[in-house]
Amino acid sequence: MKPFPEGTDLKTELRNAMGRLEKLGVVYPEGHYETLLSKYQESGVEYPRILMRIGKPNIRNFKEYSKILKMNQPFLDYGCGTCEDMRALISDGYDKSKVTGYDTNWNSINLGFDLFLDKKNLEKRLVVGDKFPFKKEQFGIIYSGSVIHTIPTKEGVLGYLNNAYFTLKKGCFIFGSTLGKTDDSEDMKRQVKPLKKEELSSLLSEAKFKDISIELKTNHPHDAKKSENNESSIKHRLWFYAEKGD
Ligand SMILES: C[S@@+](CC[C@H](N)C(=O)[O-])C[C@H]1O[C@@H](n2cnc3c(N)ncnc32)[C@H](O)[C@@H]1O
Repeated sequence: MKPFPEGTDLKTELRNAMGRLEKLGVVYPEGHYETLLSKYQESGVEYPRILMRIGKPNIRNFKEYSKILKMNQPFLDYGCGTCEDMRALISDGYDKSKVTGYDTNWNSINLGFDLFLDKKNLEKRLVVGDKFPFKKEQFGIIYSGSVIHTIPTKEGVLGYLNNAYFTLKKGCFIFGSTLGKTDDSEDMKRQVKPLKKEELSSLLSEAKFKDISIELKTNHPHDAKKSENNESSIKHRLWFYAEKGD
């Protein structure tokens, strides 16, 4: 389990997350906050930052998102976590029967169910397990949201991308985002592996993807909070798109 960033904690972020979802229409039974607080105080939250941004699906920040919505292809959310992005996609009009979420474990998926209270609605669209379960050329679009930087080794990332390539139909594509960096620094505090643009590009090429495009987005300096030791938390994110050739 990773700790919450300096200056915040589970209590605050759980309350904020539930507040955001209530504004989006989720109605919680009495005592739900206390129940979840005690559950997650006990188990911990595997990825605190996904709780911190729940209710703000990142997939909507993809510059071609409106085009994705019009595509009628089997869609895989590869490393779906809380399923925020699948929910956004479906609520924005994508055919639910064409959307599948896959993750290696239930931790963040269950956090999503606890917060959105929609397990019955979504669980049939999910596949969970250690071993990559999909067939060759099964999907027309693969989305990868904040997964690559959580995989600790180059071999692990390549395995992940090779599986994506395998299950993509010819001529189709993967898109998504991962944390980026602009130099060779290591973020020891966060236990994540941000990549330089050229590193991500060479991993995608090694996995045989073609027509790779990667855009570095950096949060606005005004949004980058300073921590107590005056360290600025400027974040870089790489948005990528890559095709499986014909
Ligand atoms: C930081 S979370 C992001 C979740 C979600 N995509 C989002 O953007 O909120 C990373 C997720 O990737 C999953 N994951 C890590 N390695 C994976 C792999 N090789 N295959 C599938 N999922 C993986 C983790 O279990 C976790 O749920």
